[in-house]
This record gives sequence, C-alpha cells and structure tokens, in this order.
Amino acid sequence: MDMLEAVERKIGQFIAELNDTEVAALYAKLPHGKRLRAKLILRIAGVSLPVVKTAAVVEMIHAASLLHDDVIDDAYTRRNKPSLNALYGNKTAIMLGDILYSKGFFELNNISAEVSKIISNAVVQLSLGELKDVSLSKTFNTDKDVYLEMIYQKTASLIEASAGAAAILAGKPKEPFMIYGRNLGLAFQMIDDLLDITQDSETLGKPALHDFVEGKTTLPYIYLYESLSETEREKLKAMHGKVLSKEELNWIMVQMQERQILMKCYAQARELIDEAVELMNALGEDALSEIAMEMIDREF
Ligand code: FPP
Ligand code: MG
Repeated sequence: MDMLEAVERKIGQFIAELNDTEVAALYAKLPHGKRLRAKLILRIAGVSLPVVKTAAVVEMIHAASLLHDDVIDDAYTRRNKPSLNALYGNKTAIMLGDILYSKGFFELNNISAEVSKIISNAVVQLSLGELKDVSLSKTFNTDKDVYLEMIYQKTASLIEASAGAAAILAGKPKEPFMIYGRNLGLAFQMIDDLLDITQDSETLGKPALHDFVEGKTTLPYIYLYESLSETEREKLKAMHGKVLSKEELNWIMVQMQERQILMKCYAQARELIDEAVELMNALGEDALSEIAMEMIDREF
C-alpha cells in the first residue's frame, strides 16, 4: 500500500515544521499502527494534496488520543511495545499528545471549512466518549445502549468523520460513507473489547480481563449479566473493578463459554460489517469491503 507512504511523509513534514529535536525524536519512537483511518480516506478519495493532508491530520489526532488514553488507562504497553508513558512518564506523553493534536488542528484549517468542521466535531465526540468511558467504569453498567453510545463517541465518531471528509473531498455523497464509517468504528471497538477477553495477557500486552478489572463492563459482560441468575449476577458484580483471583477469572471465562457470549458479540460486530459492505457494494465501491474485513479479522 504505497499510497500510505505519502501520508507518512506528510506527517513527517508536519513534525519537522515544529522545529523541535526532542519532539522529532519522541515521534520517531511511536509505533505507527495500522493507519486504518488513512487507508479508509485514501480508498474513498484517492490521492491528492488535500486528501493526504486530511489523512495525515486524522492519524495525528488518533495518535494523540492514544497517547492520552494510555495515561488515562494506566496502560504500560501499546501494540506490544512499552507505551510512551511507560518509557518517558505521563507528562511527556500528555504533552506529545497535545503537540500532535494542536499541530493537526492547525493544519486542518488549511484544508476546507467543511472538512475542518466534520473532523473537529468528531474530536469533541471522541473526548466526550473517553470521559463517558472513565465515568462508566466507576459503576457497573448493564445498559447496552449506554455502552453503544459511548463506543460510538469514543471510537466510531472519528472513523465516521474520516469517511465523511473523504467523501466531501471526492465529491461523493457523504451520508452512505458516514454510515459505513460508523459501522466500521462500532465493530472495531466491539472486537477490541472481545480481544481483551480472548487474547492471553502476553499477546495482548496487558493483564487478563483488564477491562473488567478496570471497571469496564463491555458488551460481553453486559450480555453475560443478562443471562445470569440473580445469585450469579451478584457474584459477577462483586468481582467488578477488582484484581481477580485465578478462580474468579476462570469462573467468568466458563460462564462466557457456556452461554456462547463471545460468539453473540462477534455476530453483532459482523452484522455491522455486513451492512457496511452491502452499502458500499450498492454504490459500486467494492474496494472498501476489503478494509471492512480488516476491521473484523484481527487475531483472536
Ligand atoms: C481507546 O480506547 C481510546 C480512544 C479510541 C479515544 C481516546 C480519546 C481521548 C483520550 C480524548 C482526547 C483526544 C485528543 C485528540 C487529545 P480503549 O482504551 O478502549 O482502547 P485501547 O485498547 O486501544 O486502549
Ligand atoms: Mg486504552
């Protein structure tokens, strides 16, 4: 995927313009990730200067949000490597996030008013979603709609806006692309939440059932709760937000297996992807289904 090279170069140029050797060195230490948002933008809109700039800005905002998220989540690994906060401390991670974020916003102003509006609105949503995630983890949330709204804001909003911005730049109708992006984003976060349960701690680079220990009742826990008896519900509730013993961990896993909870969640994510693919097929945008599959085919 050579088109992504243009985006990497643009981000490199934006970083170089900051004229700060410390920031350049810190940025060089950041693992790139899959650049899914940039790929999505390029697939929808092709390669042109405004498109490459938009993709670069979105990836910088995304990187900033993960830098902050790892501080908020006390996460010491990111993409199987030590996170920036683990290497250099919270202060450096927060400030690098602020620098990437504000430089991104500065550059966004040079693209188009409509693109700037759609992306900046998504960042508001992203921040509201992250706060909601933090607040919800202090309670035992069993409301599926509240969870879905939170992941829409936290994760799907920026992917939805990326697709919308790309459609605007390409002169395509933005609504179907935004629905496509929204579905991809929701499915992506659902899978992320499933991986927290299915992957062993070494592969994931964080302790087993980290989300639940952190107080997050993601979709699998909501469905599990719904399927439990009153006494079992109390038992699950009592484990929430605490470090779990081996027996407790095992009990949760057995309950999940017996009730086929993970399959149910995967099927729900899959449904969103299928809907997104159908929508694109109807528009003759077959290439976009490949990206949709990438969202869902992650290591389990
Ligand atoms: C990852 O969630 C976090 C997000 C998708 C959004 C984070 C947003 C902010 C910190 C708001 C601030 C925004 C800016 C631009 C400075 P997760 O913890 O569920 O996923 P993970 O498994 O990747 O950590
Ligand atoms: Mg996190």
